Amino acid sequence: MARIAYVNGRYRPLGEACVNVEDRGYQFADGVYEVCEVRGGHLVDERRHLQRLLRSLGELKISLPMPLTALGVVLRETLTRNRVQDGIVYLQVTRGVARRDFAFPTADTRPSVVVTARSLDPASNEKIAVNGIDVVTLPDNRWDRVDIKTVSLLPNVLAKQTAREQGAREAWFVDCEGRVTEGSSSNAWIVTREGKVVTRPADQGILRGITRTVLLDAIKAQKLTLEERAFTVQEAYAAREAFLTSASQIVMPVVRIDAKPIGNGAPGPVTTALRREFHRFAERC
Ligand code: PDD
Repeated sequence: MARIAYVNGRYRPLGEACVNVEDRGYQFADGVYEVCEVRGGHLVDERRHLQRLLRSLGELKISLPMPLTALGVVLRETLTRNRVQDGIVYLQVTRGVARRDFAFPTADTRPSVVVTARSLDPASNEKIAVNGIDVVTLPDNRWDRVDIKTVSLLPNVLAKQTAREQGAREAWFVDCEGRVTEGSSSNAWIVTREGKVVTRPADQGILRGITRTVLLDAIKAQKLTLEERAFTVQEAYAAREAFLTSASQIVMPVVRIDAKPIGNGAPGPVTTALRREFHRFAERC
């Protein structure tokens, strides 16, 4: 079945879905995006994703070209047209099309909206989670507004590629004080020897992941001790468990960091329980 993309008001086969070469997303990475999990044909945490989209747009002074409710309709229609039951929906809004000039275009420039959807096999993700994944650490060389979910992701792309070349599935960025910030496309967590769950506060050093936000509720419900603080790479090496969170991977066990086994080198009980429980705390729409 041909995949269908929504582009500025029209649903088109993916191969024919085009944006203008002077779209500022293409020219300057001047845009924002969201990735939302789809489970059993339903969007997971749509409300929170759309709220974060609004925040990202606000930070970049890009206006939303349609009401949020209409955007929700487009997301669902894209899912339906692509017959996605389990997978992800991708939504991108850029500052629109204008003659190339660094400064913002005139106020009447209409932002561009693109939505795509893709099926993912839940079983294959589950298979990966059973064994856990490898992570490598790399210096965080991104700008200081990574709290905005912009499509400007080149350092993340390069970091992920470095990870892949080293046989790992994710790279964790490390700040100049040796503390982990987040993954190239996920948030980073450890469970200490004392059983405390630790993750960096969602200040300006990381993206406030929606999965992260929902997981905080699951952690509370399981009566685990949470410490929202930065942790060092050394602390991560010595942790009992480690894991990452994102809309596409939910809670993914990390079993090796820089080739060093974490705990006994297998997914731990806290991570496994949080992965199992996550969807009880997520909103299904
Ligand atoms: N990535 N940090 C970064 C840098 C991310 O790119 C992501 C998400 C997250 C986790 O956010 P959330 O829990 O809302 O998915 C943290 C998405 C999945 C992506 O770019 O594909």
